Amino acid sequence: MGNTVHFSDLGLVNTREIFRKAVGGGYAIPAYNFNNLEQLQAIVVACVETSSPVIIQVSKGARNYANETMLRHMAQGAVAMATEMGSKIPIVLHLDHGDSFELCKSCVDSGFSSVMIDGSHLPYEENIALTKKVVDYAHARDVSVEGELGVLAGIEDEVSAEHSTYTQPEEVEDFVAKTGVDSLAISIGTSHGAFKFRLKEGESVPPLRFDILEEIERRLPGFPIVLHGASSVVQEYVELINAYGGHMEGAVGVPEEQLRRAAASAVCKINIDSDGRLAVTAKVREYLAKNPGEFDPRKYLGEARNELVRLIKHKNQAVLGSAGKA
Ligand code: G3H
Ligand code: 13P
Ligand code: ZN
Repeated sequence: MGNTVHFSDLGLVNTREIFRKAVGGGYAIPAYNFNNLEQLQAIVVACVETSSPVIIQVSKGARNYANETMLRHMAQGAVAMATEMGSKIPIVLHLDHGDSFELCKSCVDSGFSSVMIDGSHLPYEENIALTKKVVDYAHARDVSVEGELGVLAGIEDEVSAEHSTYTQPEEVEDFVAKTGVDSLAISIGTSHGAFKFRLKEGESVPPLRFDILEEIERRLPGFPIVLHGASSVVQEYVELINAYGGHMEGAVGVPEEQLRRAAASAVCKINIDSDGRLAVTAKVREYLAKNPGEFDPRKYLGEARNELVRLIKHKNQAVLGSAGKA
């Protein structure tokens, strides 16, 4: 294929070395989703200024939104921008929730240094077969692979998902051995989006299932574990959104102390998308409400970008512990 490019030619790295250091060092690498210029600029600035390794990740939807060729050049631009800022932080370009071999192959061929194949909804043996196929293709090109066992709970199917979809620790050694994955995403009580728990008046967020995490860690000592659905759903943003015309009442996420505890354990990659979305929406709503005559996108997107930089620096420094580890 004429258009094939290897990640090393884009200045990117795979996850091998950064995960090895993170597992040994008791911190987690941040994996921030992006699909536009301002998000990527903010990630680069914040991670360079905190000297943090970073995984920039795109979902299938983000890849369709941004265009795959544009994305590759954006990732290359991120590396160049970080270098020009005087810092050679490790940057991984990762496919988030790949749903087929073809999509993973296409990402590997277009310069991604890491892919996730999410077969968690499939029967166990099918998940193994699909994941192994992706691993064989990716590893031949030195690209890292994340697999998943256990389905993240959704708020709608709270009752049925409560117990049946947590990762079963008895499966993890067999899955890792048979597939050869480099990291494993697990389900211990988090979920995607801004409404992670349905709380009644006066209730607080239930703790994640650290007992399951500990059992997985016991069975796979030193193996990199990934936590999805790990936004804290920053209440300051939810309040701003609601104050300026939005309706996100009841939005709640994973408390920072729980993420700190996870980051200090075998969890070495923490996925954050919703908090960034909330920061952007809050600042754009606030800016437009306060400046009704303004129509220059640089003004309101600039405000959003500044807030994203603050948010990401805070996460790296005070939650994941990745600051200073580049
Ligand atoms: O895990 C999902 C990510 O938050 C990406 O979401 O598919 O809407 O881009 P998306
Ligand atoms: P949040 O929705 O909690 O940010 O999770 C993002 C994620 O897991 C991306 O894969
Ligand atoms: Zn996810």
